[in-house]
Amino acid sequence: MKLSEERLEEFHENGFLVIPDLFSADEVAELRRAMQRAFEQDDPANVREKKSGVVRTAMGLHLRDEVFARLIRHPRLVEPAKQLRGEELYAQQVKINVKAAFEGEQWQWHQDFATHHQDDGVPEPLALNLHIFLDDVTEFNGPLYFFRGSHKFGSVATWHDTVSTSFALWVVEEEKVKEIAETCPLVAATGRAGTALIFGDCLVHGSPPNMSPWNRSIFSLILNPVENAYTKDDRKDHFHHRDLTPVQALADDCLLQPAS
Ligand code: SIN
Ligand code: MN
Repeated sequence: MKLSEERLEEFHENGFLVIPDLFSADEVAELRRAMQRAFEQDDPANVREKKSGVVRTAMGLHLRDEVFARLIRHPRLVEPAKQLRGEELYAQQVKINVKAAFEGEQWQWHQDFATHHQDDGVPEPLALNLHIFLDDVTEFNGPLYFFRGSHKFGSVATWHDTVSTSFALWVVEEEKVKEIAETCPLVAATGRAGTALIFGDCLVHGSPPNMSPWNRSIFSLILNPVENAYTKDDRKDHFHHRDLTPVQALADDCLLQPAS
């Protein structure tokens, strides 16, 4: 799947794209079955919420289940990413952020690049975050909020928040968020299950807690150009995979093929 010239321009202008219904109901059902299998595993790559203990994020998924090994090579993700960032991209991080009904906690205001740069030594903000909604995401169940156009501020000052949630994060200072909000409108990224998002490494984003009775699970693949690879390898592999093999697209129906 190729992005049109208009969509490419929109990405460069806004810093993100929302692609409704990119994956079908059958494909989402297959992904949701694989998600349940991952959540049931007692695996250190399942990071739990501080207060409730429910899974907050399940990581390293392509190494844990064949369905996700296929998904990171899906042409509807890989082809647009290559259009935006070139041919040689490796899978830096593969996870599902769950945000469980009633229990799912916030993701503070941040740019993904802050973590990639400070923790993993990634030189430039070239990684792309590709999301697929595995539940309907509405204004009620903790959608991502994007400051539209905030990527144009470049990499901004951050501090390392190790206390607010169970997931340590380099977060944007409040004064900077206020400044960004003066010119960048805030939008909630919502849509039916199967909707995809693509956003860049400097887009300022976050998401509120989920006090609704509805789960909000979102698959996330981060692809980074091989020539922009990590230069530090202090973190566990599931935070930043060390395998720099470029992803190659499979067939469009790869998710619905029988297991090998
Ligand atoms: C979220 O799952 O709400 C936040 C994810 C992200 O920061 O990429
Ligand atoms: Mn993020």
